[in-house]
Amino acid sequence: MIKGHPELIIPQHVGIIMDGNGRWAKKRAMPRSVGHRFGAQNFRKITRYISKTGVKVLTLYAFSTENWKRSFAEVNALMGLFKEYLIDLLTNFKEDDIKVVFIGDRSAFDKNLIELIEENEEQAKDRTGMLLNIAMNYGSRDEILMAVKKLCREVRDNGLDPESITVDDISARLYTAGEPDPDLIIRTGGEMRLSNFLLYQSAYSEIYSTDTLWPDFHEKDFDEAIIAFNQRNRRFGGV
Ligand code: FPP
Repeated sequence: MIKGHPELIIPQHVGIIMDGNGRWAKKRAMPRSVGHRFGAQNFRKITRYISKTGVKVLTLYAFSTENWKRSFAEVNALMGLFKEYLIDLLTNFKEDDIKVVFIGDRSAFDKNLIELIEENEEQAKDRTGMLLNIAMNYGSRDEILMAVKKLCREVRDNGLDPESITVDDISARLYTAGEPDPDLIIRTGGEMRLSNFLLYQSAYSEIYSTDTLWPDFHEKDFDEAIIAFNQRNRRFGGV
């Protein structure tokens, strides 16, 4: 529930593209890595807030398959922050009952980060509160390709009939298998694109873009996104 707005429908699944850390830092004549640090602090705060609103699944885009193209220093700073925050999550999300899961190709990360990812998932596996998908080294096209390859193997090895494959069979082979599709995707930093985020799952998602930069996106900004979501007329292809 959103404080002061008990009438609002709370989306079951919200995705967030956390954009604008670099610009936030530039505006303050600081290195981009400082923007990421403030962005990471905000990640923790807003996640906790959203978990109390009734959202069932929250997917946050932390690092895309394309983000490796950034400078070595920036990628390094981000990896350092991920480690710091994954250590923090191990202690701090316990009381919040948030179930953390990582989506994306983790095999590209160093051993220490992979261990932290696994420890977090292991520790959170029996929690029943909000599911938090952290998308790291995630790219939707790779995810769809992975699902297609799985199905091809099933055709080859298990006699699956290609004509019987349904859209739900593809959904069931994505990282988000079994989860509701996102109702709402929020993008901070003003851009109007999905940038390879949840492409298959977002067929009927409402997109909300705000100029607010990620480190400045606070509780009230999330509330505004929910109010805007409630003003949309979702038809799912009908009339
Ligand atoms: C986009 O801003 C942001 C990222 C590529 C990194 C997002 C990561 C965090 C917020 C860290 C928190 C995550 C965890 C798991 C602790 P940008 O650099 O593209 O900004 P710009 O568009 O202004 O350049």
